[in-house]
Amino acid sequence: MMKYQVAVVVGSLRRESFNRQLATAMARLAPADFAFDPLPIADLPLYNQDDDGRQAEPVQRLKAQIKAAHALLFVTPEYNRSIPGVLKNAIDHASRPHGQSAWAGKPAGVLGASVSAIGTSMAQQHLRNILAYLDMPTMGQPEAFIQAKAGLFDANGNVGPDSRKFLQAWMDRYVAWVKWHAA
Ligand SMILES: Cc1cc2nc3c(=O)[nH]c(=O)nc-3n(C[C@H](O)[C@H](O)[C@H](O)COP(=O)(O)O)c2cc1C
Repeated sequence: MMKYQVAVVVGSLRRESFNRQLATAMARLAPADFAFDPLPIADLPLYNQDDDGRQAEPVQRLKAQIKAAHALLFVTPEYNRSIPGVLKNAIDHASRPHGQSAWAGKPAGVLGASVSAIGTSMAQQHLRNILAYLDMPTMGQPEAFIQAKAGLFDANGNVGPDSRKFLQAWMDRYVAWVKWHAA
C-alpha cells in the first residue's frame, strides 16, 4: 500500500505544547495510508545568510525530510499576533540558498491552538502569506482556530468529543486534498 508521507511542523518548543498534542491527536484521525512524521526544528541554529554555502547538518536534515514528504502540516501557536520565531527560523533555513528551497510545490495544511478564543487566526494568516511566497499550495478551507481548553483532548490524548466532528472533517478534507496534489 502506498503511504502518503506528511512532515509535521509544530511551532512550539514547549514541553506540554497544546499544538504538539493537537498534531499527535490529528494524526490519529488520518487513514492507515497516511504517515505523519515530526519535523524537528529545536536544534536548528539561528538563520544566518553567511552560512548558505555550508548549511549545518540539522538544516540539511530538515531540507531532506521536507523534500521526501508528499505534504506538510503546520500546527502552530500564535506569538504576539504572528508565528513564533522558531517556526520562521525553520522556514527561512529550508528556503535557502536562493533557488534551492525545499518548500516549493509542497502542499500544506495549517492548524493552530491557542488559549485565547480568537487565537492563532493572525498567526495562520501570516503563515499563509509566507507559504504563498514559497510557492506552497495551502488548503484554504476549513480553517481551524482551536481554543485550548479543558476537554480538547481526552485522557488518551485523542481529540475530545466537542471538537471531534469538526477536526475529523478537517482531516478528511486534508487527506483528499493531499491525494489530489500527489496524483
Ligand atoms: C511569547 C508569547 C506570545 C503569545 N502571544 C499570543 C497571541 O498573540 N495570541 C494568542 O492567542 N496567544 C498568545 N500567547 C499564548 C499562547 O496561545 C499559549 O501560550 C499557548 O499555550 C502556546 O501554544 P503551545 O501550548 O503549543 O506552546 C502567547 C504566548 C507566548 C509565550
